[in-house]
Amino acid sequence: MKVTVVGSGYVGLVTGVCLAADGHEVRSVDVQADRIDAINRCAPPFYEPGLPELLRSVTQSGRFSGTTDLARAVREAEVVIIAVGTPTRGGRIDLTALEGALQSIGQILACCEDRKTVVMKSTVVPGTTDTLARSILECASGKNAGQGFGLAMNPEFLREGSAVQDFRNPDRIVIGSWDDASARAMDALYAGYSCPRVHTTPRNAELAKYAANALLGTLISFSNEVAAICESVPGTDVQTVMEALHLDRRLSPVLEGVVVRPQVLTYLAAGAGFGGSCLPKDIAALLHFGAENGVAMPLLRSVLDVNLARPAKLAEMLRRELGALNDKKIALLGLAFKPGTDDLRESPALRLAAVLLQERAELFAVDPFAANYTPGSVDPRIRRAVDPREAFRGADAIVLVTAWPQFIEWNWETLVALMRTPVVLDGRNALRGVRMPADTRYRCIGTAESPRETASVG
Ligand code: UGA
Repeated sequence: MKVTVVGSGYVGLVTGVCLAADGHEVRSVDVQADRIDAINRCAPPFYEPGLPELLRSVTQSGRFSGTTDLARAVREAEVVIIAVGTPTRGGRIDLTALEGALQSIGQILACCEDRKTVVMKSTVVPGTTDTLARSILECASGKNAGQGFGLAMNPEFLREGSAVQDFRNPDRIVIGSWDDASARAMDALYAGYSCPRVHTTPRNAELAKYAANALLGTLISFSNEVAAICESVPGTDVQTVMEALHLDRRLSPVLEGVVVRPQVLTYLAAGAGFGGSCLPKDIAALLHFGAENGVAMPLLRSVLDVNLARPAKLAEMLRRELGALNDKKIALLGLAFKPGTDDLRESPALRLAAVLLQERAELFAVDPFAANYTPGSVDPRIRRAVDPREAFRGADAIVLVTAWPQFIEWNWETLVALMRTPVVLDGRNALRGVRMPADTRYRCIGTAESPRETASVG
């Protein structure tokens, strides 16, 4: 099929490239010419494993290209997918970019003779597709949704760091269609996929996306709340408590005598809290949407509150070890919101850094992408290092905030020996089994004492 993806950011570009790899002819549109130039040079403007290789392959095959010419791209398409950003401002979803895209697409539809299907991929609150999007497209095109053009909502469930794999091996495809012809067009678009499909209304599709992210955030905050109890009750350890919880057969089924550990269990783990461009934003938007509809949603309010308290908790643990933090040299391990990405948005590491800077600590950060971040994205007072020795030398404390696997592989005995005071705060419980010098003051999440010698569950 001929597909145009409007918005060549994270979701749009991954979607476009993967659809081209499926055999569709894809145009990826963006208003930023430098972004399109980079895409046409096969250099994605963000880090995503597997994307550069796939982009090169679909570009060379002639099935994929980037353009700033929206009108032409829409005219040539059978399916127009909208994947522009929907950030939140003051908790409320900001639809400025989306409204602009809809208006432009509607005007182009006015001059098109064939019937195209417009698909909302951007995350939007329930009712956006069948009210706001429909009315902008109808007014601008002079045509009726369902007759003059098709309309559908197809949320994405891509995780940064595994987005290409997630697109190509989806758990499910959710298609909320306004009209039957659009449902059929979407089935044709995803003809190569055998996963379950949920055919439903646009509103259900919109809410399914928010509900999925809200559940993940809830699991993480729940785990952190259990950790908070463990931190104040001697003799308890969140790691053991959660392991026991995971082994409930309703969470870890036993198939042919083997315990199956579903991936979702990794969200039932205590740590420095969640971040990224999706979970915090989507939960805030859902809360706001609930309030607008007279639904208070106190559970989700608490999910965000618990999450926001995590960096302050880490700062308090540091104060307990070091006293006042001013002029203390503290090294943060990890800046991105999770391993496997260079995305700093809503990163717990940056929130912790803000608290520590306010207390006039001297900050270093070690991150595999340390050298790549643009000057404006990380506070210039944070000195960035790629070589961990630079950060460990003379440090008063090390705080692991993002559990990059390579951090765990380091020789901690040698590195900790370089520190002025050997305080290691493990904000992700990732270093529990790692060998460190005997005098290391190792502290981690969810226990009142150092658990380095405690038994693990077999
Ligand atoms: C999330 C969802 O997982 C995707 O399904 C969804 O499509 C996406 O948002 C979106 O709305 O676009 P993402 O933000 O890339 O994807 O990040 P996750 O991998 O889910 O991580 C979110 C937070 O959960 C991070 O802070 C991370 O540290 C934490 N996390 C992640 C865990 O605690 N455990 C994990 O196993 C993975």
